[in-house]
Amino acid sequence: MKYFTYAVCAVLLAALLSAVVHLCKVAVRNKKEMSAYAGQTVAVDKDFGKTLVVFYSLTGHTRDIAEKIRRMTNADLYEIETADALPKGAKLHLAVRDQIKTENYPELKDGLPDLSSYDTVFVGAPVWWYTVATPVLSYLKKTDFLGKKVVPFSTQGSNAGTFFADFAAKARNAVLLKGEQFNNLSDKYAKETDNKIAVWLNSL
Ligand SMILES: Cc1cc2nc3c(=O)[nH]c(=O)nc-3n(C[C@H](O)[C@H](O)[C@H](O)COP(=O)(O)O)c2cc1C
Repeated sequence: MKYFTYAVCAVLLAALLSAVVHLCKVAVRNKKEMSAYAGQTVAVDKDFGKTLVVFYSLTGHTRDIAEKIRRMTNADLYEIETADALPKGAKLHLAVRDQIKTENYPELKDGLPDLSSYDTVFVGAPVWWYTVATPVLSYLKKTDFLGKKVVPFSTQGSNAGTFFADFAAKARNAVLLKGEQFNNLSDKYAKETDNKIAVWLNSL
């Protein structure tokens, strides 16, 4: 029994250590990436025509980026919401894995935006299980982007997986522009994030 307890403790300690090492590596990578955007104020000089930013956000990160894009492009904003609340914690992870596997995505609240008057549509989503969050997969299933420029963006802990390839495969009839990904960062990088967005927008 004693040796079993030691073995369990050793496994837990190894898992904890590996998580800490991973988080440190991500923090170093984020710091290096954002240092390229420090000490400047980049203005957006691109005109995207009439623009809509569509996003889904469970915990606020994607909303923050969507808000910034909205401000910089003078766009309208639409938040995708699920008809029913999603489960929380581990149950959410399991439910999402199942939704992805079965392609049975959550129902959305009615009133999806009419795209007819827009030239450009930004679509933002968290990365869930290395792909596009399932409420946004629902949105893509219901939407035809014929004649629209579509610009995807993601937020994630550290690994966007196949988000952009999956988005491209499911954004029906979209004229896709280059997407951008945003790791979750603390507020101390707010200015750098603004600059990263502006540099990206100017590159489109
Ligand atoms: C179900 C679930 C799965 C996730 N999968 C990933 C993942 O594969 N890669 C990653 O880097 N982050 C992953 N995350 C973290 C989120 O992508 C990240 O926190 C995101 O910025 C959350 O956006 P939001 O605050 O707008 O909801 C996952 C989060 C949840 C809830």
